[in-house]
Amino acid sequence: MELRERLAGGHQPTTSTETIQPSSHSTQSDSFVELKDRIHMAVISELGPRLYNEALSQTALRDVVLADVRQRLAQERGLATADRERLTQEIANDTLGHGPIEPLLQDDTVNEVMVNGPSDVWVERGGRLERTGVRFTDEHHLRRIINKIVAQVGRRVDESSPMVDARLPDGSRVNAVLPPLSLTGPLLTIRKFSKKRWDLGDLVGIGSLTAAAREFLECAIHAELNILISGGTGSGKTTLLNALSTTIPGDQRIVTIEDAAELRLNQDHVLRLESRPKNVEGQGEIAIRELVRNALRMRPDRIVVGEVRGAEALDMLQAMNTGHDGSLSTCHANTPRDAVARVESMVLMAGIDFPVMAIRQQLSRALDLIVQIERFNDGARRITNITEVQRMEGDTVTLQDIFEYRIDKETGAGQLVYTGLRPTCSKFGRNGTVLPAYMEAHNFGADRGNGQPTPERVTPVNFGIRPGRVERRIGR
Ligand SMILES: Nc1ncnc2c1ncn2[C@@H]1O[C@H](COP(=O)(O)OP(=O)(O)O)[C@@H](O)[C@H]1O
Ligand SMILES: [Mg+2]
Repeated sequence: MELRERLAGGHQPTTSTETIQPSSHSTQSDSFVELKDRIHMAVISELGPRLYNEALSQTALRDVVLADVRQRLAQERGLATADRERLTQEIANDTLGHGPIEPLLQDDTVNEVMVNGPSDVWVERGGRLERTGVRFTDEHHLRRIINKIVAQVGRRVDESSPMVDARLPDGSRVNAVLPPLSLTGPLLTIRKFSKKRWDLGDLVGIGSLTAAAREFLECAIHAELNILISGGTGSGKTTLLNALSTTIPGDQRIVTIEDAAELRLNQDHVLRLESRPKNVEGQGEIAIRELVRNALRMRPDRIVVGEVRGAEALDMLQAMNTGHDGSLSTCHANTPRDAVARVESMVLMAGIDFPVMAIRQQLSRALDLIVQIERFNDGARRITNITEVQRMEGDTVTLQDIFEYRIDKETGAGQLVYTGLRPTCSKFGRNGTVLPAYMEAHNFGADRGNGQPTPERVTPVNFGIRPGRVERRIGR
């Protein structure tokens, strides 16, 4: 890499993880590149997950890698001693670190790193895309780093399997696509796992929802409503799911089911399941759907599914309708109404022979609340609807917004406001749950005619259920 490029990349030439090449070698001969690629691949497939072994110190790991590289290079003939040592260091650097994107991965303000070929690297910071000056030496360099990243899950990317999804041990998600599928060089997308776990209080603090909405959502969790979070990619669904899940009472047995384990719950009694993709022979897949079914046999109090994308929607609905209340999940949709349609079409993917009307019936009985979250142009994520799923009317599922994001026409300022409608779900009141006081006041209290609150109604209504834990499931 030229000094000019390094400076443009804004990273230190002394970074131990970077491939440093004397400028005389910046145009490496093909045989060098081939040798480097080959040794690098051999080293990462030999060491694989050991490269991420946290029990090994960085120095110890570096020694292991250096020894392995040296041993392999020793078998190559016709290499000058200086070249041998230089290659050893370069391969070790690529094996231990992430090359020029290492500083971006370490940078906590960066949420996502996107590499569009060796000399076009972008990041997402605070919800906005930014181009960086970071560059890889060449396409081979980028390929080596990609292979290093996926080696830990025992995968490799090459022309025969040019597309891969992997998850780093820190929870970050990685996707890579190589030519010939990509027409512009190797592509790498890393969605960094945010070290910061936001709870509902934090989300109120950054304006994603209001304190009033938080109070209502906590009440809904406590009363074991089945809640679906809906939103686009990167709208903050998983973050919100995690925040909501942390309010589940600590004495409950929670099973989480995900494609890539992103949820971090703080309760003691959490069982984490992760689906398994097909192996190279196209076998051994364990889908979310099977995990949901299995979870039902694990005496769960709550099932939290990271995202419903397909046939598992049917199993989720059935679980919810057979007494597994308080389940939480997310789905990709743009409005609460759209989410209902999505779930309906996902159930159809299960290939069962159900009339659509029956699916809709089941859906309206199973789901209680849809929380819509959106990513705004300023990069902020905000809840835009908290919508109750009510029963069927004719052939449509009735939805009622309890909270709605409204924009003031004059000031242009938006806010998530309580619509004043009273939730109808009969589960409120379970486990001694009490609806937020403002809802009671809104519905029965003040300003009905004489402007006087009706005293006996202003006190929160308890739906006739004594406080304390009630028997939660019947016939389990
Ligand atoms: N409420 C929020 N406010 C600001 N940024 C957020 C919020 N929720 C999530 N993010 C950021 O948005 C990115 C995507 O969040 P994530 O929850 O994984 O979205 P999704 O599951 O919808 O794809 C993360 O990098 C996260 O840090
Ligand atoms: Mg997500």
